[in-house]
Amino acid sequence: MNPHDSPKQEWKADNYARNAHFVPTLGAPVLQLLAPRPGERILDLGCGDGVLTEKIAAAGATVIGVDAAPDMIAAARARGLDARVGDGGRLEFAAEFDAVFSNAALHWMKSDPDAAIGGVKRALKPGGRFVAEMGGHGCVAAITVAIVAALERRGVANAAAGIPWYFPTVDDYRARLEGAGFTVDYIELIPRPTPLPTAMAGWLEIFGQPCFNRLPPGDRPAAIAEVTAALKPVLCDEQGRWTGDYIRLRFKARVPDQPK
Ligand code: BEZ
Repeated sequence: MNPHDSPKQEWKADNYARNAHFVPTLGAPVLQLLAPRPGERILDLGCGDGVLTEKIAAAGATVIGVDAAPDMIAAARARGLDARVGDGGRLEFAAEFDAVFSNAALHWMKSDPDAAIGGVKRALKPGGRFVAEMGGHGCVAAITVAIVAALERRGVANAAAGIPWYFPTVDDYRARLEGAGFTVDYIELIPRPTPLPTAMAGWLEIFGQPCFNRLPPGDRPAAIAEVTAALKPVLCDEQGRWTGDYIRLRFKARVPDQPK
């Protein structure tokens, strides 16, 4: 899930569970890539309500979750997890984790991705691994174009610059990881058309919030309706089932062992 560090985004656990429960469900492959082992100490960066954190703990690891959203952290704690409110983009741990895991969080750390990666690097022990999945280049491109058009039609200048998500290419993110001192063992862009259980309205309600909050409240319903209508021919099938145009960036990187 997400670090939820966008200032205009208010994350509520009940809303997330209703509209976005598919996010942790579809995180199973990245959990498999993490392969947590009993006794390991693992940080879940952007743990949200702790659905995946709980699975890491169930594998026998000691896991700490961090997320910027107090309501999501309260939900994670209600599962009995060690979860803490914190800025995922500027972690302050020092050489204490065997692994840092992150699902669907890093794309919210748009303002300074290198600071986020640097915080992960510092948090890891020598030999520690960073295993994550985030939105990758081209993710939700159709949705983004429709939102930008609706905002600009309502007078928001350069609306694209205010889109809160960062969806890097493989080359971009690999260079950032290597620049921070990681060795990249695996990195791949994965197209993943994603069924939206509560349709486009539910998706926009939760993920589009920081975009539509740039409009006066009275303008928001019409803008949301316009985006939904524009996307219907592209992302909605004849049975009324919506599919998001998701592309994931999945990677596994590690901190080199200390020279002997
Ligand atoms: C996600 O959480 O995976 C996501 C959020 C916003 C836009 C696209 C993807």
